[in-house]
Formats: sequence, structure tokens, C-alpha cells
Amino acid sequence: MFIQYSKTKLVLLLALSTSTSPLALCAQDSNAKDIIDARQKAFSDIESQTKVVKKILNGNETDWSNLLEASNQLVASSDALKGAFVSGTQVGSKARESVWGKPEKFNRLLQQMEEGYQQVALGAQKQSTVEIEKGLKAAESTCKSCHRSYRSRW
Ligand code: HEC
Repeated sequence: MFIQYSKTKLVLLLALSTSTSPLALCAQDSNAKDIIDARQKAFSDIESQTKVVKKILNGNETDWSNLLEASNQLVASSDALKGAFVSGTQVGSKARESVWGKPEKFNRLLQQMEEGYQQVALGAQKQSTVEIEKGLKAAESTCKSCHRSYRSRW
């Protein structure tokens, strides 16, 4: 499963970059591209898995096991993103300088998105549509707000 793989890969890349420069956590050129690719993939997965969750919810018969699987992936992708904005990985990505310059709001929104998806996963476990919808609303309230300040438009 890609999500698990990308997470492991990110952790590995982080470990590699710390071992080459123990004081500054700074990506080398070659693995900066891998980190950027992995986090863009994580965001694309979040977008598509969110659609999957909504589609299942709106269907006639809710497939709870698929819903739970999609929710778990959403939590895993959100979690993987926490370590994905390593310094030295702006060039060649759509992330703006403000990700590193003004990290407080950025980190708060990332955390808020993950908590939203955790609520979705909890709702899927409890088979509670109300809880899932609350979680989706919380997670999706972060997208635009973060993109406005932290993602370039081209
Ligand atoms: C904490 C900030 C933050 C939040 C929250 C956030 N994004 Fe993003 N998103 C970014 C940044 C920064 C990029 C650019 C990443 C890069 O190019 O390295 C991005 C990129 C993307 C991309 C493009 C990936 C690509 O291949 O270029 C998609 C799709 C996306 N986000 C969807 C979403 C959705 C859907 C949500 C809400 C459920 C969301 N994002 C929430 C910051 C955020």
C-alpha cells in the first residue's frame, strides 16, 4: 500500500538527511525531490480518499469496511505530511516560503486536518454518519485556508 510505503520512505529520508547533517535538518538535492513527490502524492491521496468517503456515505448501502479503510488512509496520509516539509525542499515544489517562515499557523492547520480525519475514522468504527460528517467538515475547512497562505498558485 503506497501510503504506508511513502511514510516509511519519508522517515528513512529524514533519517538519512539527519545523518549527513546532524545539526541542521536539511535535505540534499537528490532526496528533496523524493520528499516533494511523496508529499504531493499524500495530498492527492487525501483529495481522492475524501471523495471516496463521501461517495460511500451518499450511497444507498454504506460499506463500512471500505469506509474505515479509506478513513485510515486519510489519517496515515495526514500524519505522513507532518514530517514532509523538511527545510531545503521548497524549490521545485508548490510550497511557499511562508511554510518555513510562518510555521505556527501551518502546523496548526495540518494538525486540525489530521484531527478531522481521526474523527472520520472514529465515526467509521462506530458506524456514525453524524460523526463522520463532522470530521469531514473539520478536515475540509483547512484546505482553502492553508492553500491561500502556503501554496503557490502555479
Ligand atoms: C497545512 C497546510 C495544508 C492543508 C491543511 C492542506 N493543504 Fe493541500 N497543499 C499544501 C501545500 C503547501 C501544497 C504544495 C505541496 C508541494 O508542492 O510540495 C499542497 C498541495 C495540494 C495538492 C496538490 C498536490 C500536487 O500534486 O501538486 C492537493 C490536491 C491538495 N493540496 C489538496 C488538499 C486538500 C483536499 C486538503 C484538505 C482536505 C488540503 N490540501 C489541505 C498545504 C495544505
